[in-house]
Amino acid sequence: MSDTQVMQWFPGHMAKTIRILYEKLKLVDVVAEIVDARTPKSSRNPLLNELIGNKPRIIILNKIDLADNNRTLDWINFYKKQKIFTLYVDCKSGKGIKLFVPMIKKILNKKIESANAKGIKKTLRVMVVGIPNVGKSSFINRLSRGKKAKVEDRPGVTRGNQWFTIDKNIELLDTPGILWPRIDDASVSEKLAFIGAIKDQIMDTENLACRLIKYLNDNYQSNLIHRYKLENYDTDKKTEKEILSIIAKKRGMLISGGKIDVERAAIMLLDEFREAKLGKITLDSF
Ligand code: G4P
Repeated sequence: MSDTQVMQWFPGHMAKTIRILYEKLKLVDVVAEIVDARTPKSSRNPLLNELIGNKPRIIILNKIDLADNNRTLDWINFYKKQKIFTLYVDCKSGKGIKLFVPMIKKILNKKIESANAKGIKKTLRVMVVGIPNVGKSSFINRLSRGKKAKVEDRPGVTRGNQWFTIDKNIELLDTPGILWPRIDDASVSEKLAFIGAIKDQIMDTENLACRLIKYLNDNYQSNLIHRYKLENYDTDKKTEKEILSIIAKKRGMLISGGKIDVERAAIMLLDEFREAKLGKITLDSF
């Protein structure tokens, strides 16, 4: 992606986003960074490390229902080795969510104990951050079940920030911190486009679908063959465009004059991938 395209993508909002996030971070004890389990690396913004400094953090791999189970476990181990707390959840079904509160208590154990020793009941505050579409709102909704914390004047707490009580003495800032995706790296933006986190067109649909076919053919060939009944074709010897045309033909996607509607097939393939109809697939490796 060219610099001009990057500029079009982010017309000067980055500095403002950093400022807002920085202000919100002052209010919380811990940061929960949500990533899409299909792209545990590409859906992170490396600048967050600098922003949060020494503040404790949990990485939450969401949408595990759509990601490759084995690779999700690999990613969990990868982060564990880096001593980063990690949780894997599915906000659609709620799977894994109940482990969040115990994890917060474990992470902030020292803070809780030292407050207890002084006879203070410390309220722990959490902020959820992540790039668009990773499931921040779904996560907050799951945890809060709509319960708003009692609004009161608190020193250092900016008016307008609403908190949800998610457990006795644990509150969640109800507005998630939105990070910008890393669109300066072509391979990252491509993966984010595959999963639909970047909705704008980073390339035309047909090209994007061909790139996805390449990834699938290289990494999840049997999923591709199975879904589109390509058993009689040697997909290793076909170009991505040829594969897309075969898929279009097999699905009866024709336009007037008997021509193949490759564009329609491209849209369908991307949709089906996003809905995990091709199976549970992960796009990032270490
Ligand atoms: P955001 O705040 O980070 O932008 O994300 P949000 O919660 O709005 O979720 C983005 C989309 O991802 C939503 O789908 C949401 O339902 C879906 N989603 C969130 N968590 C999960 C999960 O664990 N598994 C799956 N499969 N999907 C998840 P949508 O199509 O935009 O809306 P809708 O389907 O809820 O109507």
